[in-house]
Amino acid sequence: MTATHRRVAITGAAGQVGHDAVTAFAEAGWEVEPLPRARLDITDRVAVVDALDALRPAVVVNAAAYNAVDAAEADPGTALLVNATAVGHLSEVCDRVGSRLCHLSTDYVFDGTSDRPYTETDPTNPLSVYGRSKEEGERRLRPEDLLVRTSWVCGEHGRNFVKTVLALASDPDRDLAFVDDQRGCPTMAADLAGMLVRLVGEERTGTFHVTNGGPTTWCGLAREVLELAGHDPDRARPIATDQLDPPRPAPRPRSSVLDGAALRLAGLPPLRHHAEALGELVGRLRR
Ligand SMILES: NC(=O)c1ccc[n+]([C@@H]2O[C@H](COP(=O)([O-])OP(=O)(O)OC[C@H]3O[C@@H](n4cnc5c(N)ncnc54)[C@H](OP(=O)(O)O)[C@@H]3O)[C@@H](O)[C@H]2O)c1
Repeated sequence: MTATHRRVAITGAAGQVGHDAVTAFAEAGWEVEPLPRARLDITDRVAVVDALDALRPAVVVNAAAYNAVDAAEADPGTALLVNATAVGHLSEVCDRVGSRLCHLSTDYVFDGTSDRPYTETDPTNPLSVYGRSKEEGERRLRPEDLLVRTSWVCGEHGRNFVKTVLALASDPDRDLAFVDDQRGCPTMAADLAGMLVRLVGEERTGTFHVTNGGPTTWCGLAREVLELAGHDPDRARPIATDQLDPPRPAPRPRSSVLDGAALRLAGLPPLRHHAEALGELVGRLRR
């Protein structure tokens, strides 16, 4: 039996990217099989085989991940199981059923010491357990799989920094301190999902960096969110990472801005600046 043309199965479909990917693929006319964790635990190898055998999707988008960057430091086994071992199984099963695989990874595979944005071919050197587990997941892919690295994801569904800022800001007496010495590119899940549809639809393979434009810091992003929500942006107080109290268990890259060289080489447009997309997201979240 061969894979079903234009059927896409999306693991982790209840997460930020998974949720928006379900919407984006459906809007683009794909037959979508959403596989939230409750329907498919990607660490259950037999369940993965059964699901993909039954569905025969042309494409699997793996949006499932163990994303708790700090918790992973004390739980490397689970991070490795979800972010690497399960990815290897998915890739193997895709090979067997004739599905293409699109997998997501992170800017945290880089150490952040470079003074320029990271391209797809730059060497990885993760600082954290989470980053190492994602790097190991990347290594489990086949050459014909599609790997999309992204950063600082914020969407309408699931937990993220934008929602945290909005919740904290609703208390006028709350001190709002945010790290101002880590740089990255905020990426709106809906914009990322649109590019996944395009890359998958064009049957692209290899590694692509996909982020919204406009590098900033967490404090810079918090200021933008506050302003968009009608609060005083100066409530966001910049602090250095080493002033965090308590300190976070996982080290983060100082600058993990991703360069979308592969998109440029493929003649594909980059995602827009994050400010415009962030405005739309904050508008939706405040409705
Ligand atoms: N969030 C970011 O800032 C960020 C940055 C860079 C890259 N990425 C990458 O982007 C991808 C999507 O991230 P996201 O932000 O959408 O994460 P998310 O909102 O945390 O979604 C991940 C989803 O995976 C599910 N999941 C966890 N373990 C699973 C398992 N064993 N089997 C099946 N599903 C499982 C989670 O379910 P539960 O909620 O039930 O655990 C959750 O619904 C990931 O590969 C991530 O590494 C994210």
